[in-house]
Amino acid sequence: MGRAAAWGSRLLLVVVVVVVLCGTAAAGGPGTAPLLCNVSLDSPAEERWLPVLRHFEPAFLRAAVARVIDETVPKWVHEVIQPIAAELESFMPQPFAGEILGLCKALGISLGDGVLLNFAYESTAFCTSIVAQDEKGNIYHGRNLDYDFVDILSKITIDVQFIKSGQIAYQGTTFLGYVGLWTGQSPHKFTVSGDERAGGSWWENAIAAFLNRNYPVSWLVRDTLSRAEDFQSAVLRLAGIPIIAEVYYIVGGVSPKEGMVITRNRRGPADLWPLDPLSGAWFRVETNYDHWTTPPPFDDRRTPAMKALNATGQQNINFDTLFQVFILNSVIEMVQYLKHSKSNS
Ligand SMILES: *[C@@H]1O[C@H](CO)[C@@H](O)[C@H](O)[C@H]1NC(C)=O
Ligand SMILES: *[C@@H]1O[C@H](CO)[C@@H](O)[C@H](O)[C@H]1NC(C)=O
Repeated sequence: MGRAAAWGSRLLLVVVVVVVLCGTAAAGGPGTAPLLCNVSLDSPAEERWLPVLRHFEPAFLRAAVARVIDETVPKWVHEVIQPIAAELESFMPQPFAGEILGLCKALGISLGDGVLLNFAYESTAFCTSIVAQDEKGNIYHGRNLDYDFVDILSKITIDVQFIKSGQIAYQGTTFLGYVGLWTGQSPHKFTVSGDERAGGSWWENAIAAFLNRNYPVSWLVRDTLSRAEDFQSAVLRLAGIPIIAEVYYIVGGVSPKEGMVITRNRRGPADLWPLDPLSGAWFRVETNYDHWTTPPPFDDRRTPAMKALNATGQQNINFDTLFQVFILNSVIEMVQYLKHSKSNS
């Protein structure tokens, strides 16, 4: 299976646990904390990433872009995208078009490559997200992210604060050059994480949907962070707006019961799975499989996470204990990968 074969060079990259109530976020993991940067939404889209670029070596970035695209994007996609690169701008909504254009100009790469880079990460995200409610009604939302190219991506992972009129409008964790967000929060409103829902023919469907002007899944996260006023409106946008690939969106709010796993088809919601603390469902765990199905034994990150949460208990769930569940989850993931690769060899 593609999924099993794809486990190759994966390692845990980022663990993020967010507590919306306090408006604080923290990211951590085996490496050091990512670079924290400000991106001003008051600057023109084409210019707003330039201050962030100054922290990086342009030659390293160009080589990184070339390698990620080369190893991730199928040749036929290059052949479809490169000839229409000049017209791509008109397929993309703002601010994404302007931001990608500005990054490409600054790095001296083609617009086609800039767009492909944004697709490359979109197709390879494997992860676990958890939303939970403690006994006082506080909502916790955590995720880990697990990517190919950990050697490159760990060097360009950034925590971005998007600033409007001197205030943090929203924030997220991403890779330099990638203008969407798989993880983010709008302070005192809601948190969002995305987990890949692998469908067959990812590239064919995604390119067709993109040319039909659907949003890449990480663009809808950012768009929602910038527009939605609260948990409810975030869920409505994330559930309903057409996107280019299937995905799970996990959303946390600031009030009791505000936690939801949205299973997405490209056109709209396939399923909504809310927290139901009054009936004992004080957490929801989503990995990369529909919650109503059984994950394959070689990639079951769900059962260990649920066991760990059950063992922790609602009365003990907090920032630190949720973080420990993710560390355990990542260790189990590596062990499963090693076992699986051993039994296949
Ligand atoms: C980012 O912007 C905020 C709000 O204007 C400011 O308080 C903070 O010092 C800035 N941080 C960096 C790293 O520039
Ligand atoms: C966790 O606890 C719930 C409620 O007691 C139970 O239904 C579920 O099977 C448990 N899950 C695991 C994996 O232990």
